[in-house]
Amino acid sequence: MTEIYPIYDKMISRSDRELRLGQIGRVLWFTGLSGSGKSTLAVALENRLYQEGKSTMLLDGDNVRTGICNNLGFSIEDRTENIRRIAEVAKLFKENGQIVLCSFVSPTNDIRKMAKNIIGSEDFIEIFVSTDITECEKRDVKGLYQKARAGLIKDFSGIDSPFEPPINPDIIIDTTNISVDEGVETLISFLKK
Ligand code: ADX
Repeated sequence: MTEIYPIYDKMISRSDRELRLGQIGRVLWFTGLSGSGKSTLAVALENRLYQEGKSTMLLDGDNVRTGICNNLGFSIEDRTENIRRIAEVAKLFKENGQIVLCSFVSPTNDIRKMAKNIIGSEDFIEIFVSTDITECEKRDVKGLYQKARAGLIKDFSGIDSPFEPPINPDIIIDTTNISVDEGVETLISFLKK
């Protein structure tokens, strides 16, 4: 870009910030269908990290879509722009030394690849919440599957809009038969490795 002069080199460095915080900045990216348990796990994991004295930031689809992304819908183009903005925000927090938890359907391989490229592959941990659509639909916590089946909502992930399972996620969690605590333990022991 012309006429733009970023000043990143003059700012307090990422490593100094990480030293102060006693942690390494990372992005934990939860992907999965609506109702799969992404946000429940992300909230519980953030609480656990907080109790352990970590500095965290949680970005969630339903929250972000009421603010920075409130002009976006659910076409693939809008979802791509949604995730582009989130990934840029997550990157800023990560550069600040935070552990960022992102909970977004992020339905396609291209969308997740874009997020990973923006954030940096070495700092991006992909968590696939693989709970099957049958279970998500059975839970239907927000009543959205029922509306999508009735044709009242269009472009619903897993119904009339694609969800591509990640090709090579760092960890897979199916929440069908586990408690939230068990899910958090699995994630914590994976992250400690
Ligand atoms: S993403 O595809 O762009 O990553 P995001 O995670 O921000 O989606 O938002 C998904 C949330 O929006 C869902 O949890 C659900 O509550 C709500 N939602 C509303 N309409 C849709 C839809 N058509 N498809 C998926 N989620 C929807």
